[in-house]
Amino acid sequence: MNEMDENLIREMAAEALDVASVDGDPIAQFRRWYAQARSAGIPREDAMTLATLGPGGAPAARIVLYKDLADLGYAEADFPFFTNYESDKAEQLARDARAALVFHWKPPARQVRAEGAVEFLPAGISDAYFATRPRGSQIGAWASPQSRVVPSREYLEEQERALEAEYAGREVPRPPHWGGYVLKPHCIEFWQHRDSRLHDRVRYTLEAGGEWRVERLGP
Ligand SMILES: Cc1cc2nc3c(=O)[nH]c(=O)nc-3n(C[C@H](O)[C@H](O)[C@H](O)COP(=O)(O)O)c2cc1C
Repeated sequence: MNEMDENLIREMAAEALDVASVDGDPIAQFRRWYAQARSAGIPREDAMTLATLGPGGAPAARIVLYKDLADLGYAEADFPFFTNYESDKAEQLARDARAALVFHWKPPARQVRAEGAVEFLPAGISDAYFATRPRGSQIGAWASPQSRVVPSREYLEEQERALEAEYAGREVPRPPHWGGYVLKPHCIEFWQHRDSRLHDRVRYTLEAGGEWRVERLGP
């Protein structure tokens, strides 16, 4: 794991977070914070908790990884992640696309929350991203019936061995049951801890005309 850049973390924590200081575009603001978190070497800066609506509308949450797909030519203003299209979360999103996600960067004590609706990523982007994954992860995407009951660890390892034999010497194609989603936000909030407990919160809300309203919230 890379060492954290303590100087940059201190600068991040001291940075102003105010209606007047933030970017007018919340995704540009998010990308700024995300780039800082990466540069500072914050562990698992890409981990975000994704909350969906489970059976009967009960909340269901789990961590997935945010993927910056700019290098693949995907520069939409949203939050991409990859998963199994037959998992519990996928079934939940098919029933109700509304979802929320949360990032927490412990130092510098920042939180980002987003709420919106989840859509499929274009298949071509999922193909392109799958092709960049390590071979073991590609095989794993075929081998694991995510969220389903399995008899044992040995069963999964046996699946993996069989798939390695099947794809020996050739490229692993993207499974049809694996790919990307994006959360299209209508609300994004940035939170920065302050020692006084008067933490800073700035919320963006998408208005009917497509403009973002920016407001300060009580901590
Ligand atoms: C740090 C971390 C990163 C994870 N990243 C992903 C991910 O990118 N995609 C994914 O499908 N599951 C990921 N998982 C596993 C999920 O949290 C979850 O167990 C899995 O997606 C099944 O969720 P579901 O049964 O609600 O569909 C990650 C777990 C952790 C702890």
